[in-house]
Amino acid sequence: MSALSQKHLTGLKNLQKSDIELIFQTADNFKDVLQRPIKKVPSLRDITIANLFFEDSTRTRMSFELAEKRLSADTINFSASGSSVKKGETLLDTVRNILAMKVDMIVMRHYSSGAANFIAQNVNVNVVNAGDGTHEHPTQGLLDGFSVREKFGDLKGLNYLIIGDIKHSRVAGSDIPLMLKMGAKVKVCGPPTLVPKFIEELGVTYEPNLRKALEWCDVANVLRIQLERMDIKFIPSLREYSLFYGVNKELLDSIPKKITIMHPGPINRGIELTSDAADSKQSIILQQVENGVAIRMAVLYLLGGRN
Ligand code: CP
Repeated sequence: MSALSQKHLTGLKNLQKSDIELIFQTADNFKDVLQRPIKKVPSLRDITIANLFFEDSTRTRMSFELAEKRLSADTINFSASGSSVKKGETLLDTVRNILAMKVDMIVMRHYSSGAANFIAQNVNVNVVNAGDGTHEHPTQGLLDGFSVREKFGDLKGLNYLIIGDIKHSRVAGSDIPLMLKMGAKVKVCGPPTLVPKFIEELGVTYEPNLRKALEWCDVANVLRIQLERMDIKFIPSLREYSLFYGVNKELLDSIPKKITIMHPGPINRGIELTSDAADSKQSIILQQVENGVAIRMAVLYLLGGRN
């Protein structure tokens, strides 16, 4: 079995291109497995994985759980709500106590940026970041890249646009390094207050005008406004945001080429994306979700292969 060059997957910024290619090739194989009547392989039999969710999730949590079951791993699930975190237990104590039950890998979502790296530095099992604050969401970045590769055959030379709240987005934090490493060009579009000041230093361009940005791109990844991560107001109102930066079918139909529409979910329908655009033939949103299982199987399998 090949393995990743690193023990943990906490982000894509420092992941090698060869690791990304290996994950994609492994996910191709698992996608075939998931089409079979028996969708299960014994690859991680005898491995126990703890899914630690300190923040809400639908897609990522269920996708990891399903990926683990498809690989025959044993799983235990933790939610901060209803746990002893409410009684003041620290993050590290919580993790160390769960590891004392002989757990082999951790999948963790946390509201604090850097939480996954902190845990990875303090435990001796594999850590997979399932989203940490506004930092990174590496398996989302991988499934986004995999879905675009599936649609276009290659990421090299593609024009990839990210629209919306870039500043608070861990999806942008993972999509940008992945797309650039794989040879795509990346542009961001949104109100200047929601775009990090030094974004162009990452090798990304900024276009404030939505129509111009859409005319440039092959693929547009539409992001949600992350009100829960804003302690001050960055936009005057959601209604105004929607008028200037909302993507709808009428706008898409007025662009000469058929742009592929993506969204990591959850969608706030009618704000950043209307239903007629989200549910149109141009959208690959549910393919992204489907591909998430194969990508997470690949990541868990390849990290497990290091042990
Ligand atoms: N895309 C994503 O992370 O969705 P969830 O918050 O539902 O996991």
